[in-house]
Amino acid sequence: MSKQWRRGRVSRTRASKAACAGALALGLAGGLLCPPAEAAPATAAERATITPSPRVAKLISEMTLDEKLSFVSAQVDPKGLGEAGYIPGVPRLGIPELRLTDGPAGVRVNHHATALPAPVTLASTWDPRLARDYGQVIGRDGRALDQDVQLAPMTNIIRVPQGGRNFETFSEDPLVSSHMVANEITGIQSQGLIATVKHYAENNQEDDRMGVDVNVDAQTMHEIELPAFQAAVQAGVGALMCSYNSVNGKHGCGNDDLLNGILKTQWAFRGWVMSDWGATHATTDLVAGLDQDMFTAGLQPDPYFQGALKQAITDGSIPVAALDDAVARILGQMERFGLLDGAAEHRPARDPKGGAKVAQRVAESGAVLLKNAGGALPLTASDNRIAIIGPSAKTPKVGGGGSSSVTPDAATSPLDAITRRAGARASITYAAGGDTTGVALPLADSPLGSDGTLTLPAGAYKTARSTITVPATGDYIFTVNAPGSYGSVTVDGAKVADTAYGTVSASAHLTAGTHTIDLFATVLQGAPATLRFTWVTPDMVTAARNQAVAVAKKVRTPIVFAYDDLTEGTDRTGLSLPFSQDELISAVADANPNTIVVLNTGSSITMPWLSKVKAVLDTYYPGENGAEATARLLYGDVNPSGKLTQTFPTSASATPVAGDPKAYPGVDHQETYKEGIFVGYRWYDKTGTTPLFPFGYGLSYTSFAYGDLRVRASHGGLTVSFTLKNTGHRDGQEVAQVYVGAGPNVTEPQAVRKLAGYEKVFLHAGQTRTVSVRVDAQQLRYWDTRTGSWRMATGTRGVWVGGSSRDLPLHAATAVSAR
Ligand code: BGC
Repeated sequence: MSKQWRRGRVSRTRASKAACAGALALGLAGGLLCPPAEAAPATAAERATITPSPRVAKLISEMTLDEKLSFVSAQVDPKGLGEAGYIPGVPRLGIPELRLTDGPAGVRVNHHATALPAPVTLASTWDPRLARDYGQVIGRDGRALDQDVQLAPMTNIIRVPQGGRNFETFSEDPLVSSHMVANEITGIQSQGLIATVKHYAENNQEDDRMGVDVNVDAQTMHEIELPAFQAAVQAGVGALMCSYNSVNGKHGCGNDDLLNGILKTQWAFRGWVMSDWGATHATTDLVAGLDQDMFTAGLQPDPYFQGALKQAITDGSIPVAALDDAVARILGQMERFGLLDGAAEHRPARDPKGGAKVAQRVAESGAVLLKNAGGALPLTASDNRIAIIGPSAKTPKVGGGGSSSVTPDAATSPLDAITRRAGARASITYAAGGDTTGVALPLADSPLGSDGTLTLPAGAYKTARSTITVPATGDYIFTVNAPGSYGSVTVDGAKVADTAYGTVSASAHLTAGTHTIDLFATVLQGAPATLRFTWVTPDMVTAARNQAVAVAKKVRTPIVFAYDDLTEGTDRTGLSLPFSQDELISAVADANPNTIVVLNTGSSITMPWLSKVKAVLDTYYPGENGAEATARLLYGDVNPSGKLTQTFPTSASATPVAGDPKAYPGVDHQETYKEGIFVGYRWYDKTGTTPLFPFGYGLSYTSFAYGDLRVRASHGGLTVSFTLKNTGHRDGQEVAQVYVGAGPNVTEPQAVRKLAGYEKVFLHAGQTRTVSVRVDAQQLRYWDTRTGSWRMATGTRGVWVGGSSRDLPLHAATAVSAR
């Protein structure tokens, strides 16, 4: 980090009134940033600027207007490496190109890379050291693959169980999210890759993500969503991505309060703000604190920073100082990361083996054992006749969809990994139990090959309308496989399945007869791509299920792998497993009571079959070494130690956002976070609702006992000490959690208990240790809406310690004072 950068002063300069007037005249601001003069908030149209280093200031003074503008909007990469964003640099001034790649489960380019477990798996390790290792793998891979900026981590709070990107983020709890985001950023940036925390702010759902206006009160925003973003800034993150959604009436990327106010002034962020792809709404967003307008270059012209901004700067309606500051922020980070000193020329080699090891450790440490009746797991020598069931046992579910999907270096199937681990004496049979690939869509007038494929050159798109004859009324599964491309299937005018870069399957209930099908396919950039469009009929599903049941009857232990396909851009319509997998698990468990379930799912799901099965292991999306990790967990080579970072509800109607469309998914693009600070377990505790599995929960093959709680005040916070004993017969790790209760003198809403600290502790069988968990002063504060600042919640407060938010055997009360 350069000294100049650290010393840089943050100031706010008021832009001319002409800025708003000019933008309105051009039809650009649309009232987003420029409400009628009398209604304008005092902070509108002020841009928080930094003082650039002398080197950066000199470079900017030597640039033409076009050169400056080239930094603030996306261009097409002439090398076509497949990253999400490209900035050309200014070769005549020695400023190199800048490549920006997704994120967040690895590096997504036209090349294989380490496909790490989903961030939610990482969070479930409750191990910030692993977050650092995870970040380091991304940092090295990204640099080696010619990238300079990673579009990760995502740290939006899991507010909605249906959220399509819950797998890409960490937790419903701000403390866990803060630790993960900060450590991952440290890891990424330690390798010289610039991290980008996203999506600021309140991008907590995917349905209507581009249109929804989140109405959230200040206390909720500051206590729940913003802490992890602030932690990212404190960890020195170089860039931040603003969100598609609006917050309290202003677009995420034109939100002066969030960008100039909180981010750049209160938190003194000196990096740059880029828009989510296509999230810019006005040239005046520059004044509101946006530095870079990103979109998929080459796909469509951009009217804002690549369009009207030049004219607005030329006629003075937007001050050139605002543009200079945006460029200074980008160049400041390039300087800080050595990119102005040739770092791009000195790149490390990839380390795929090292990456795979970290991927496996995270998968092993983050998998959550949800049920283990009668010690069904780990598997033993007597489990020598095993049936492995489920499509994701054979085709490994490595990661989620959308911009997070990474092409793995390699990925073994769970079937192969378990077969290898089980050894020659075990007999392993496989049954698909279901099918999501099926056969080519039998269209009347088909542009598809006999296997359902369609190949397009880079930059091309194709639409095709046809009809399909549905043989019998029932649920049909449509699958789009679109590596390096985007594809969708629409049935009778309603989009059923669409994916960017990955594979997605979705069910539609269709009546017998003829239906209209619209296919859309496009290859955005990079190389030509082959897409595949297929379907599975109800008869195929039933046949596969019957075959699995027959196989399950003949073995001692059936292991069913169940999965889902979460992806950005859309939420789940419910919390059940898709593709009749609930029916599959039930049927197998009815046939054989020793059934074990392994989940490759992105977030919480409901489990109507839970009482019928012996064990459930949730690995979320476990990355490229997920199969090896799963085999080792099932056989007890490694003891499960992951804990849930989100509550699993009993049903979709028993969640904090259920029952009121204004709370979720919004009505007429308006949504109110009416649960306030009571997100996740805070709501379950407040309302006394019993979850399926509580926040912080996870079993082990051993057991732990807590004792001797001591709480003392230290450094404004608390030190909470207790003994932890491994009371079982295996070595294991426990995530010991400390919760604090409400302050008696606070009138603002407060959680019954909130997580205030934790420690993941390794103990040999029989070992006892004294554990000390530090509770920082900040964890004892609340957001005081009257003063708009943090305040200590003083008085006598409860302290609880235990292994989950609902299993807290130790309790004490402690006095918290203002200092
Ligand atoms: C996503 C971002 C991603 C960007 C670039 C957007 O649609 O929301 O998370 O980084 O695309 O691929």
